[in-house]
Amino acid sequence: MLQSMRIWGGERLKGEVSISGAKNLALPALAAGLLTEDDVILKNVPNLADVQSMGNLLSHIGTDISIAGSAYSMSTKDIRVFEAPYDFVRKMRASILVLGPLVGRFGKARVSLPGGCAIGARGVDLHIRSLEHLGANVSVDNGYINADAPNGLHGGDIIFPTVTVTGTENIMAAACFAKGTTRLINAAIEPEVVAFADLLSKMGANISDSGTPIITIEGVERLHGCEFTIIPDRIEAGTYAIAAAITGGDITIRGGEYDHISALLNFLRMADISVEVSQDGIRVSRDKDVPIKGVDVQTAPYPGLATDLQAQFMALMTLCQGSSSITENIFENRFMHVQELCRMGANITVHGKTAIITGVSKLTGANVMATDLRASVSLVLAGLAAGGETVVNRLYHLDRGYENLDQKLTNCGAIIERIII
Ligand code: EPZ
Repeated sequence: MLQSMRIWGGERLKGEVSISGAKNLALPALAAGLLTEDDVILKNVPNLADVQSMGNLLSHIGTDISIAGSAYSMSTKDIRVFEAPYDFVRKMRASILVLGPLVGRFGKARVSLPGGCAIGARGVDLHIRSLEHLGANVSVDNGYINADAPNGLHGGDIIFPTVTVTGTENIMAAACFAKGTTRLINAAIEPEVVAFADLLSKMGANISDSGTPIITIEGVERLHGCEFTIIPDRIEAGTYAIAAAITGGDITIRGGEYDHISALLNFLRMADISVEVSQDGIRVSRDKDVPIKGVDVQTAPYPGLATDLQAQFMALMTLCQGSSSITENIFENRFMHVQELCRMGANITVHGKTAIITGVSKLTGANVMATDLRASVSLVLAGLAAGGETVVNRLYHLDRGYENLDQKLTNCGAIIERIII
């Protein structure tokens, strides 16, 4: 059954929100369970559809997993299958994150190609070419990546022509056991990638300079278990910051890391939104009589404005005084929310990878369709600010990446309900 969310807009959200564990760290961290037969205990794992999908895939492969609240205990003593079937991967492209650990530890893997998705081609050519450079034989046929390294992997210099988050994570995991030195050049430096390197190091990997564009990994014989806590979800934190801004509310975000979303918070300040940082958290507020100033932004790899916050920031800019331009530099088709926002009265035109937003005085509630995870939450934000009733359909997109969103928004005064259609 499909779920929708009905939103009665116009309420100014006030209160506080506690940030859950980061989806985009929990997924590679779970896949790291494949790297050792010892117990790896992950804490603060968010309860999300994507996390459940990854757990199901790992169980299918042969990892023993037990879950107690937000703690996952897992170990991979023996493997049942060395593959990630299409049926798993089509539901969640981050399943590709099992490729590196399987090839690295066991020397083989058969992983379905993720295929494209709503926001773009989402190639995995860099993952494949990098594994080949480390000595794996890789072929792609019948929709599957077949990788084989019977003698194990050897070190080498991997130069990423474009920054790739899961590409960096996959090859870092694979290189843990590679003979010799591996250097990842033009590596991703997102907080989740740094935290993932911390996890691997805690498991006994020899990794240095994570968080810089050149990461060095010295191969080791084996990895061991450990206990590790997932960092807060910066995209969730940024989303609630924008929720406060768009409704003219006042929300204190607990548990978010300022440095992880400093680009967004500075753009909010440029839009005349109040952002205060204290030991209580990040407080974002706007007096409803203070207009939102139009700001021109571009998405970029960290520490630039996260592409995962682009749709949410666009929702805010639809109500700006003046105009705003938003350029999406990471994905080629991440404007699926534009037409839906226009159905709510927004004035947005798209010119290649740039959207031009001319601010309007108000949005009106409408029936809208979610197309991907971040587009869906941008429609919820718009609905919270719009006059009248908004119904966001295909809510399964939302549940992939936001833990307890309904409760967190309701606690701040939002009037929303889920409906089964
Ligand atoms: C990760 O996706 C995140 N997902 C995405 O979050 C995020 O939007 C993205 O990084 C960028 O920050 C997870 O971490 C699970 P990329 P990923 O490889 O790794 C191209 C969300 O909403 N590319 O950094 O798949 C690619 O097409 C999700 O939480 C290749 O061409 O993104 C894109 O244009 C959405 N070939 C660019 O690089 C490759 O082999 C960056 O992609 C790899 C990537």
